[in-house]
Amino acid sequence: MTAPKLALAATPVSEAPVDAIVVGTIQNGSGAVLAPGSEAVDAAFDGKLTEVLGALGATGKADEIVKIPTLGKLKAAVVVAAGLGKPGADGAVTAEQVRRASGAAARALLGSRSAASTLSTVDLQGAVEGTVLGAYSFTAYRSEGTRPELAKVDLAAPAEGTTKDHRATLKAATAIAEAVATARDLVNTPPNDLYPASFADRAAALAKSLGLEVEVLDEKALKKQGFGGILGVGVGSTRQPRLVRITYKGAKARKRVALVGKGITFDTGGISIKPAANMEQMTSDMGGAAAVIASVVLAAKLKYPLEVTATVPMAENMPSGAAYRPGDVLTMYGGKTVEILNTDAEGRLILADAIVRAGEDDPDYLIETATLTGAQVVALGNRTSGVMGSDEFRDRVAAIARATGEGGWAMPLPEELRADLDSRLADLANVTGHRWGSMLAAGVFLAEFVPEGLPWAHIDIAGPAYNAGAPWGYSGKGATGVPVRTIAAVLADIAENG
Ligand code: BES
Ligand code: MN
Ligand code: ZN
Repeated sequence: MTAPKLALAATPVSEAPVDAIVVGTIQNGSGAVLAPGSEAVDAAFDGKLTEVLGALGATGKADEIVKIPTLGKLKAAVVVAAGLGKPGADGAVTAEQVRRASGAAARALLGSRSAASTLSTVDLQGAVEGTVLGAYSFTAYRSEGTRPELAKVDLAAPAEGTTKDHRATLKAATAIAEAVATARDLVNTPPNDLYPASFADRAAALAKSLGLEVEVLDEKALKKQGFGGILGVGVGSTRQPRLVRITYKGAKARKRVALVGKGITFDTGGISIKPAANMEQMTSDMGGAAAVIASVVLAAKLKYPLEVTATVPMAENMPSGAAYRPGDVLTMYGGKTVEILNTDAEGRLILADAIVRAGEDDPDYLIETATLTGAQVVALGNRTSGVMGSDEFRDRVAAIARATGEGGWAMPLPEELRADLDSRLADLANVTGHRWGSMLAAGVFLAEFVPEGLPWAHIDIAGPAYNAGAPWGYSGKGATGVPVRTIAAVLADIAENG
C-alpha cells in the first residue's frame, strides 16, 4: 500500500477543501461530548454538533464511528465523529485513545481521497500513527476492485509547542508508522512467496536502501559454521534456511543493541504436525523477524545514536523425508546439544542459534521477539505480549510496551522449570514433558543461550502479531506489526537514558 501523505494544516481544518473532516467524541456518562479541536466544526453546525450526534445515538465509545453530512455547512461533505472512549481520572485522553480513534476513522474513510483531522490537536503522534496504520490495506494479491486509497490527510496543529516541534513529531511518527506497515507487509505476504531465501532478499533490499551492512548465510554457510538449530528445523523444506544479519552503526553510538526475531516463514509443526484448523495463520510465524528487520531500518531512518544489529534466523518448518524428527539430537551454534521431543517447538531452536550469534557482538542489550507459544495467547490473550528476561530490563520493556499502547506484561522464568527441560541424553530437551507454564518454559529454554549478565528481554507475540478477528482501532485483519512500536520506543529510551 502507499501511505497517505500527512501534512500539518496551514489553514483552519474547518475550511479545508477535503472530502471529510474527522472530529473526536468523548464518552461522558451515556452521551458523547466533543473532543478539543472540534470548535470550528461545531460552529459551522451553529453549536449543535453535540445535539446532532446525540440524535444519531453517538456515545463516544472507542471504535464508534458516526458520519454526518454537512449539506454545505463546510467544504467537506461529511464529518466523521470518532469515539475516543472514556477520559482518565485526570480528565484527559491518552495518546493510544487518539491512535485508536484515528485508526477507526481512517478505516471508515477508505474510499475517500482526502481528509482533515482535528484529533491531532489532542495528540499529534497518536493521530499520525493511527491515521497511517488505520489506512493500511494489503491489496497486492487482489486482481481487481480495490477501493481508492486515502491519499492526503491535513492535521490541525496542537496548541502547545512550536511548528518546529510539530514537524519533528510528524516526521518521526510517520517513520514509525511506516516501519509498522513494512512489518505488516512482510507478515501478510503468503508463505508460497515469502520463504527463507525470498524473505532474506527482501530484508537485504530494505537494509541496502539505507546503506546498512547486510550479511546473508545460506544453507552451505550455515552448515560450515555449525548453525544446527536453524538447519535442523529448516532441512525438511525444499526451501532451505537462511540467517540474515543487518547492522546500523549510528554516529556517536551510545550503546550496542542486539535484536533477534523468529523467522519461521510457515509452521506446519513438522513431523509433530499441527491440526488443520487455523493452520493458515502460521503464515504469521515470522512476525518477530519482520518486526526486528523493520526496527533496525527505522533506527537508521531516525538516526538513533546507537549501534543496532538484527540477527534473523529464517526457516520453514515442514514434514518430509528430510525433516528432523522427535528423538533427534541437534548440536546448536556454540556447541550445546538439544534433544528434540516435539518438532513443533521449533522457534526456540532457530532463536537459540541466533541468540548465541548475536551474543558474540558483545551487545549491551538483547531484545528478542517471537510468535513462540500458544500458551502466551491462553495466558494473556491477543493484545498483551508476554515479556520475559532479566528482571530490570524485562520490566522496563513491559512498561514501555504499555506506554506505546501495544500492551505487554512481565512474566517470570521460574527456576524449577529448568529441570523439566533435562534430557535423557543431551544438554537439554526442547520441551518439558507437560503443558504447564509453556510460555515460561520456552523463555527458560532461551535463557540457556543468553550470555551471562546480559540484560535481555524476550517478547512472546503469538497472539498480538496477527489479528484473526474483526478490525479494531488501527488494526485491520491480518498482520498488526506488533511489536515494532515497542522496539522503537525501547531503542529511543536506550538512546536517551543508556
Ligand atoms: N508458532 C507456534 C506458536 C503459535 C501458536 C503462534 C499460536 C501463534 C499462534 C510455535 O512454534 C508452536 O507451535 N508452539 C508450540 C510449543 C509446544 C509444542 C511446546 C505451542 O505453543 O503449542
Ligand atoms: Mn511450532
Ligand atoms: Zn512456530
